[in-house]
Amino acid sequence: MAQTNSSSATPAQAWDKRGWRAYPRVQMPDYPDQPALNAVEAQLAKYPPLVFAGEARRLKQSLAAVAQGRAFLLQGGDCAESFSEFSADNIRDTFKVMLQMAVVLTWGAQLPVVKVGRMAGQFAKPRSAPTEVLDGQELPSYRGDIINGFDFTPAARIPDPQRMLAAYTQAAASLNLLRAFSTGGYADMHRVQSWISDFTGGEEAARYRDIADRISDAMAFMAAAGVTSATAHDLGQVDFYTSHEALLLEYEEALARIDSTTGLPVAGSGHMLWIGDRTRQPDGAHVEFCRGVQNPIGLKCGPSTTAEDLKVLMERLNPENEPGRLTLIARFGAGKVGDHLPRLIQTVQAEGANVVWSCDPMHGNVIKSSTGYKTRAFDSILREVREFFAIHRAEGTIPGGVHFEMTGQDVTECTGGVRAVTDENLSDRYHTACDPRLNASQSLELAFLVAEELRSRRLNGGQQAKAS
Ligand code: PEP
Ligand code: CO
Repeated sequence: MAQTNSSSATPAQAWDKRGWRAYPRVQMPDYPDQPALNAVEAQLAKYPPLVFAGEARRLKQSLAAVAQGRAFLLQGGDCAESFSEFSADNIRDTFKVMLQMAVVLTWGAQLPVVKVGRMAGQFAKPRSAPTEVLDGQELPSYRGDIINGFDFTPAARIPDPQRMLAAYTQAAASLNLLRAFSTGGYADMHRVQSWISDFTGGEEAARYRDIADRISDAMAFMAAAGVTSATAHDLGQVDFYTSHEALLLEYEEALARIDSTTGLPVAGSGHMLWIGDRTRQPDGAHVEFCRGVQNPIGLKCGPSTTAEDLKVLMERLNPENEPGRLTLIARFGAGKVGDHLPRLIQTVQAEGANVVWSCDPMHGNVIKSSTGYKTRAFDSILREVREFFAIHRAEGTIPGGVHFEMTGQDVTECTGGVRAVTDENLSDRYHTACDPRLNASQSLELAFLVAEELRSRRLNGGQQAKAS
């Protein structure tokens, strides 16, 4: 891919990677040292892209299959990647749990699962308030390690452009490892039984064991029939993609490139970018940047998303109505999905728009625990997923995927699950740099429960088809 500032090959309306600068911006830092910022941007613009246009195109094709109900999307990873929690073990463990979840979901959906990490670039965070107060001291909010520091000191909270270079380096190293894991036959997907050894006792564990037995049987059958990773190339290799919120537009612009195959602009910072619920103003800088790059784009849809906004956003972000280009990530909160999702689904249907519908049951379900921690209850997360599926069933549309904040580590950040984390446990291993994540056991448990939803949908759908 060559580098360019030009807008020679353009989407429907002229676009330039610097164009967002003329639009109102929110949730972005004001860098006090402009020359330092300019220098970092110039340096990043010379660095190689982290992902390649052909990969983003391939993901778009896979998402087109999701939009048509021929595949299922699993997107997950940290709320905020951090410099201090960066390690090979953390990457490996999140990757591993995502693959395990994907096996379980494949069984439930009987469809290929498209795996997209919130990894290798998920560093910048929108915040609900510009400042934080602690012990009477007020400081600018922490905005993610790519922008400022987590420490509650005036110096740490100053936006520092050098952090973009550190984030780029970390993303490059993460991707390098993920590529090795994806192609090196790392994941042994044949030990489904042992994954549930964590779920000790209880009715739920027995239920999961039943699913695990069936998956193991299917794998044993394939092996007996001679289908193993040694004979079937695809079994030892997975497609794993990266994604993050395109929040820090100086970073995104510096890594945007021209795809030499198509001549069109593409973001080089990750395969898929999404626009957050706080930055999706139809006439804002973030939408302006994202509309011009060819990558798959996610759009968070929260309770304040109006049908009119959605119409304009779909037109702006996907003027050609290309399947796989746009994923609508619904995040309303348990008990509220029915208030909002039907009207948005109806808008999409009325427009004849091709979209993937994905469910983020995390961001509408943040609460403060009795012990003062920001947390999410496993039951609320599950309830939102179930509401999402039920509404799609009622509307006759396709629930295409799920979007989770999760980690492969044994953290105590969300409450509940079979190995119940309680309010009192939260302080044990609360490591997130931002929102509370599902731990490995909770993530896998959720995958089992989503698999059951998918399976019952499939079986009910089959009955309807027979009846009609
Ligand atoms: C996020 O995905 O981390 C996030 C901030 O989500 P939202 O924009 O939906 O609040
Ligand atoms: Co979050």
